[in-house]
Amino acid sequence: MEQYVVKGGVPLRGEVSIGGAKNAALGILAAAIMTDETVTIENVPNVRDTRVLLQAIEGIGAKVKYIYNNTVQINGGSISDLNVEYEYIRKIRASYYLLGALLGKYKESNVALPGGCNIGSSPIDQHLKGFKALGAKVNIDHGVVSAKAENLVGGHIYFDVVTVGATINLMMASCMAEGETILENAAKEPHIVDVANFLNAMGANIKGAGTDVIRIKGVNRLHGCTYSIIPDQIEAGTFMMAAARGDIVIKDVIPKHLESITAKLLEMGCKLVEGDDWIRVIAEGEVGSTNVKTLPYPGFPTDMQPQIAVALALAKGSSMVTESIFENRFKYVDELNRMGAKIKVEGNTAYIEGVEKFTSAQLSAPDLRAGAALVIAALAADGISQIDDIEYIQRGYEDFE
Ligand code: EPZ
Repeated sequence: MEQYVVKGGVPLRGEVSIGGAKNAALGILAAAIMTDETVTIENVPNVRDTRVLLQAIEGIGAKVKYIYNNTVQINGGSISDLNVEYEYIRKIRASYYLLGALLGKYKESNVALPGGCNIGSSPIDQHLKGFKALGAKVNIDHGVVSAKAENLVGGHIYFDVVTVGATINLMMASCMAEGETILENAAKEPHIVDVANFLNAMGANIKGAGTDVIRIKGVNRLHGCTYSIIPDQIEAGTFMMAAARGDIVIKDVIPKHLESITAKLLEMGCKLVEGDDWIRVIAEGEVGSTNVKTLPYPGFPTDMQPQIAVALALAKGSSMVTESIFENRFKYVDELNRMGAKIKVEGNTAYIEGVEKFTSAQLSAPDLRAGAALVIAALAADGISQIDDIEYIQRGYEDFE
């Protein structure tokens, strides 16, 4: 079991470069198999989740070649198996993107049902509703989702909840269907736009990504391309929150994608300087409190909720953090309280009393983003902390240390 040993108490100063967006990469790597030609993808974060998905892609027979550390080539021409094994889904939920990609290309796919994840039960009812709306027969038995269609015909799909996964899965499943598909109440995250841009680079016809109505006109086939993934908004935001006790320049970012995070740091009294592809966060003296509610993009991202909670736990005054997307995303609070934080969770809101200091402790990462937040807490605590279960953190952060 790997762990981080963190000697904290020193404000962070310096600069860091941000890698490719994990949650864009997972959709893009899956979509790359939808052509029989070679696709070259650059700025792929070399993290556990992307490595597992690439193993799943090889597992069904596609060719995967690592060109450099963050560039891969994929060729879906040799796919021989439309069944994605449970072992990949167990490791990462996002293997379910192969459901939409294989259905969209071969009109058939069988993918093990994802279990819940650490931050809440995670149904895929909206994904399945969308596939059915395109004319696929969908059934679930022995824990496997099977989707099959004589013909995929464009449909009008209204999502009951804003869902990143279903929006990406349905863009893939519909991009070679007959006619037009309209996705209403679609997710608008930067990584949705990135996946749509990638599919369009392969010859798809997708308009409106980034708004809540996405129109996909089916095309006959997709072709190869070269594409570079956008910077990771959440990785950048994580370092921005770590700067709430220091002075950090975060490079290779798109400041526009960070607006909701920047706004909160300004409310907390931090100073921010913005360039066209970098942002500098300076916390002179104490930071103040504020309130946060997580919302779908462009609201404050749920994936930044644990990280801002740590910054607020060390701020002056009281704050409230409300989690409106997932039902179980406060498991890190108990760990923080062991370090001297004063946080009470009632329902989906954490009530935070800022404290001067944390003391170091033996910690364990409950999930990906909470794990990153505990590292920020350990860096702020005097003394040496140990953090176990860091493979969660390694799922989404390349060379985090
Ligand atoms: C993606 O998860 C991200 N994962 C998550 O990031 C992120 O927290 C989440 O989007 C929200 O931004 C990847 O992109 C791989 P959803 P996803 O479908 O797609 C409910 C990280 O830290 N829902 O947008 O699984 C669902 O239960 C990870 O990188 C349904 O009810 O999230 C949740 O409450 C953690 N039915 C809400 O919608 C469905 O069919 C949002 O889920 C689908 C979702």
